[in-house]
Amino acid sequence: MRSVVALAVGLAMGGLLTVIGMNSLRKGTAYPNGVMAVMAAQMGHLEAQRKAGACSAEDLAAPLGTLAALGNDLEPAFLPTADNAAFSALSGDYRAAVDAATGAVLDCKQLEVKLDAISASCKACHQQFKG
Ligand code: HEC
Repeated sequence: MRSVVALAVGLAMGGLLTVIGMNSLRKGTAYPNGVMAVMAAQMGHLEAQRKAGACSAEDLAAPLGTLAALGNDLEPAFLPTADNAAFSALSGDYRAAVDAATGAVLDCKQLEVKLDAISASCKACHQQFKG
């Protein structure tokens, strides 16, 4: 009888700890995944606007503003990494690419060049840090 009780308690504890563990794993990844998902969505919006010919400073202010704000969340979301200094440098490159597009785009051709530069900064970080 005692062993049956011990088994039941053990199973209950195991189940509980699994739930706690899964929750903390999910919390740990929701933030970085969320930052990346919104970045990807905003890049998609910008690409769609470029194709639609909506490239005035006013058209671009909201998506570029969101990309700029998300740039401030790179380190808080991802650190610590295997190489924090390199991660911060790549984050800085991303922020510089977004800054360079903000207020500097006059037409869709220029937007294409600026978007390519932002994409290149995404890829540079992914090459080193995305498993
Ligand atoms: C400074 C580093 C850094 C920058 C800049 C960066 N990312 Fe990421 N990104 C990562 C890391 C690290 C991962 C992997 C996260 C993981 O595996 O949990 C990732 C993952 C992603 C994913 C999910 C990957 C997948 O395979 O599903 C998407 C989408 C994404 N990034 C889009 C972007 C876009 C779009 C940009 C630029 C506008 C960008 N990222 C800029 C570091 C960065």
